[in-house]
Amino acid sequence: MKNLISVHDVENIHHLLEQALMFKREPLAERSLGSGKKLGLLFMNPSLRTRVSTQIAASNLGMECYVLNVGADNWPLEFREGAIMDGSNVEHIRDAAPVMGGYFDLIGVRTFPSLRDRTLDYSEHVIHSLMKYGGRPVLSLETATVHPLQSLADLMTIREFLPEGRRPKIAMTWAPHVKPIAQCVANSFSEWICAWGQADFVVAQPEGFELNESFLCGARVTYDQKEALEGADFVYMKNWCSYRDYGRVHGSAHEWMMTLDHLKLTNQAKLLHSLPVRRNVEVSDEIMDHQDCLAKNQAANKVWAAQAVLAEILKGQILA
Ligand code: CP
Repeated sequence: MKNLISVHDVENIHHLLEQALMFKREPLAERSLGSGKKLGLLFMNPSLRTRVSTQIAASNLGMECYVLNVGADNWPLEFREGAIMDGSNVEHIRDAAPVMGGYFDLIGVRTFPSLRDRTLDYSEHVIHSLMKYGGRPVLSLETATVHPLQSLADLMTIREFLPEGRRPKIAMTWAPHVKPIAQCVANSFSEWICAWGQADFVVAQPEGFELNESFLCGARVTYDQKEALEGADFVYMKNWCSYRDYGRVHGSAHEWMMTLDHLKLTNQAKLLHSLPVRRNVEVSDEIMDHQDCLAKNQAANKVWAAQAVLAEILKGQILA
């Protein structure tokens, strides 16, 4: 693997999943693989789980890790080509990225979408600029349209709780929120489940909240949440704002909040959420505190997901 921008950079998803599970059993199995290598993590937005889990993963591989909070630890960055930089951004990515490429062997970046300019957000200009001007392998820590490390941790968690001898039904259901939230977790979960290819997958959302079809890869889509939940073995609960009317939230649709009544429709489903979650807005307390809620497992598995990806990129560098 050269970079991890999305699932499309993964050569063999089944192998990657096995590697993540192996690191969970043996965290220090490849403790010297990253010896002498430096990882820079560039955060343009907040993070708890991805930040810490990637740092632990790097440490388990013997890498040194440096975390930069853009605009706090380093200068606010400009990404527009040809920009007249007379605003608040102090340094252009064309200047900052080669400097980082000189310091680091591998660079991770987290950047949220604007939710105003769909074309710009879906071009993933931030991570592509970093790749272009940094000259180093790049790792997504969540970008405008996808969150691949999260999806690998989600898939790993599903793999650990698979029903025996049966193809599972996975339902991803839209959840209400108080403000516009990116589509990246939902887009990414969808394309990873489709690439895995071992589940019947259905996506449910109210009208107006349809995802970009290119991430759905033929998944079944419905406006009927009840129908999607019926018989589901896994339920992924997640808010996202409108793609069509980009960045908008139409109404509150409180009835889509996952509760014990919704859970009764399922096949005693395991419940997934990427966190952070707005309790009693997206998901009820009873669901978040339910014994079948795997949100904490997903968060814990982010270490092994990041470790598997870092190891693949490091091995790719050795072979290059
Ligand atoms: N799920 C997730 O990416 O969490 P953080 O935003 O805390 O990293």
